[in-house]
Amino acid sequence: MNYDCKDEGLAPRGKKRIEWADSNMPVLRLIRERFEREKPLDGIRVAACLHVTTETANLMRTLKAGGAETALCASNPLSTQDDVAASLIKDYGISVFAVRGEDNKLYYEHINSVLDIEPHITMDDGADLVSTLHKSRRELIDKVIGGSEETTTGVIRLRSMESNGVLAYPIVAVNDAETKHFFDNRYGTGQSTVDGIIRSTNMLMAGKRVVVFGYGWCGRGFAMRARGMGAIVTVVEVDPVRALEALMDGYNVAPSSRAAEFGDLFVTLTGDISVIRKEHFQNMKDGAVIANSGHFNVEIDIPDLEEMADSRETVRDNLVRYTMPDGRKLILLGEGRLINLAGAEGHPASVMDMSFANQSLTAEYLTKERGNLEKKVYRVPESIDRNIAELKLDSLGVEIEELTEKQKEYLASWQMGT
Ligand code: ADE
Repeated sequence: MNYDCKDEGLAPRGKKRIEWADSNMPVLRLIRERFEREKPLDGIRVAACLHVTTETANLMRTLKAGGAETALCASNPLSTQDDVAASLIKDYGISVFAVRGEDNKLYYEHINSVLDIEPHITMDDGADLVSTLHKSRRELIDKVIGGSEETTTGVIRLRSMESNGVLAYPIVAVNDAETKHFFDNRYGTGQSTVDGIIRSTNMLMAGKRVVVFGYGWCGRGFAMRARGMGAIVTVVEVDPVRALEALMDGYNVAPSSRAAEFGDLFVTLTGDISVIRKEHFQNMKDGAVIANSGHFNVEIDIPDLEEMADSRETVRDNLVRYTMPDGRKLILLGEGRLINLAGAEGHPASVMDMSFANQSLTAEYLTKERGNLEKKVYRVPESIDRNIAELKLDSLGVEIEELTEKQKEYLASWQMGT
């Protein structure tokens, strides 16, 4: 088996942590038990490019239990948990290519190593695997049945491939499942972003002026949690409906030029490029902290900051202090990479349970539908979404209400009014 990790000796620690995460992933465990019996992925090779975390490890175990041959690489150079990579290789016999802190060259070498298994299914988080396959490994396309995509940024890239007529096989947008983005993007990102910022800085959130860029599901989640910790939250948003929603949710709404002047902490969650840039760095207060929780490290214009600053100093893990020519200090967290994974452990297992239940059932769906799908971006079938919600509620011991026959009839009729 081919692999590349930092240190195989880290495996025992990784295994304990993977098992701990598993204890909070009951839905995925149920799927794994069924997969073990039914082997729906027998003979299927899955190439996965995901954050290499304890939660992802349990997804990989599930795919393997289903009969798949798997290979995993990182979807971000700074999100790999090296002990998890080691344990997947040593304890679970899964081929992993990931080293925390790998440079861009090694990152793409690892993507190519994963593609070397000649996948039937690609499983992506950010679409780097799919785009590498389409750009430089086209000889593999014929074997691919389909792929799945975990995150908003990846879905946007894939929809652009579809509309440009270059998408070569069907993709299921796992991100768009309700049991994914309502929970993972909102409550997962909300909590883990606060976690990453606090672990990196040990700052007090109470009373801080926090500026949140983007009011999508991730921005909503982070704004909500920052407020919960006593921060005074301002939202910067380009979409008028979302901006209005932020306002009516009780946040201050302002353009970035104004917010730059008063923010203590700036967090980007937009999926777009150069959201915080030169004109903002010029006007920020001394001591302002800047972090990104979007997928790629493009939201903060770090080259601008590097060019403007007189010097930079690493003060603690994931924290660099830039000194500007006028003496102000600006603090950048996690090299502008997604702070919830660079500075903490990503979303809690309990929420990844649903995201990765979607991934597992999507792999099964793609296998069953082999040859029946077009070169398009698809939604996760509604039946899968509902099933996951029911299983999650069950695992939490929560019962819900059922419609009476009379209510069903009423909802199905158009004749009955007042
Ligand atoms: N994305 C966000 N949090 C994650 C986690 N814990 N594992 C894998 N991918 C993630």
